[in-house]
Amino acid sequence: MSEIPRYALSDGTTLPAIGFGTYPLKGDEGARAVASAIDAGYRLIDTAVNYANEDAVGRGIAASALPREQVQVTTKLPGRDHGYDQTLASFERPCRALGVDYLDLYLIHWPNPSVGKFVDSWRAMIQLQEQGKVRSIGVSNFTPEFLSRLQGETGVLPAVNQVELHPFFPQVELLAFHEQHGIRTEAWSPLGKRAPIREESVIVEAARTHGVTEAQVILRWQVERGVLPIPKTASAQRQRENIDVFGFQLSADEVAAITALGREAGRLFGGDPNTHEEM
Ligand SMILES: NC(=O)c1ccc[n+]([C@@H]2O[C@H](COP(=O)([O-])OP(=O)(O)OC[C@H]3O[C@@H](n4cnc5c(N)ncnc54)[C@H](OP(=O)(O)O)[C@@H]3O)[C@@H](O)[C@H]2O)c1
Repeated sequence: MSEIPRYALSDGTTLPAIGFGTYPLKGDEGARAVASAIDAGYRLIDTAVNYANEDAVGRGIAASALPREQVQVTTKLPGRDHGYDQTLASFERPCRALGVDYLDLYLIHWPNPSVGKFVDSWRAMIQLQEQGKVRSIGVSNFTPEFLSRLQGETGVLPAVNQVELHPFFPQVELLAFHEQHGIRTEAWSPLGKRAPIREESVIVEAARTHGVTEAQVILRWQVERGVLPIPKTASAQRQRENIDVFGFQLSADEVAAITALGREAGRLFGGDPNTHEEM
């Protein structure tokens, strides 16, 4: 397998170009999946307070016996803990559950605009980063409008925005905004979960051309666009398949044809950050 390149973040840190998603892995199965993902070469593990699996993720990381600094961990602030003091208080719990004394990347999980406290949470995240408790701070499911509010009110933009992004929902405008503002895009549901994307003829053809699987074509498309995908799979074999996307390249035409699969109603479950809120 080819070496995994790293993406530079605006705050001077780096992340591997692919990570491992852990929802809805839990318990012993979750710990085993995380341990085997690390064994397969993943060095970035994505979890969230609301996945209620941080203990399993922590056990999986511990089982790998790698030094702490060699595995980067992301978790996410839940909506019910928005607010300045609440965010500071909320931070300790996932660290305890994960068994770590700092986080590599801490994200606001959803903006929850009707609650109206994401800027207060962001000020607390900035403080956590200044205190060295979090290496990088970012958000998830933020639109350009919400990102601009963070910048306008605090002067600090997130290093990362983790959003729904797959061939049926390629996020062309958001990616351009991120590029303009130095924000790294992470893709959740990078394979489109159970949507029938892998059956699309442009993807089947590209897989045949490059002698790889359809899932590898989709993940390579993510990387070709400068996006960091975090595919989830419980299978050790598919974990190895998904990370093995750095030994071939898609042509610009192939990338464009896959991006053209995007559709108006491309979101998997209607998770529009303007209206969808999670506590
Ligand atoms: N920030 C947010 O709001 C948010 C929202 C949703 C998800 N996430 C994060 O993003 C991660 C990934 O998203 P996701 O799990 O929704 O979707 P995904 O990674 O696109 O797809 C996962 C599904 O695809 C299957 N799969 C994985 N690799 C495959 C392969 N090579 N061939 C065929 N099938 C394959 C998995 O099944 P098997 O397990 O059976 O292989 C699973 O059913 C989550 O785990 C979570 O960490 C974040």
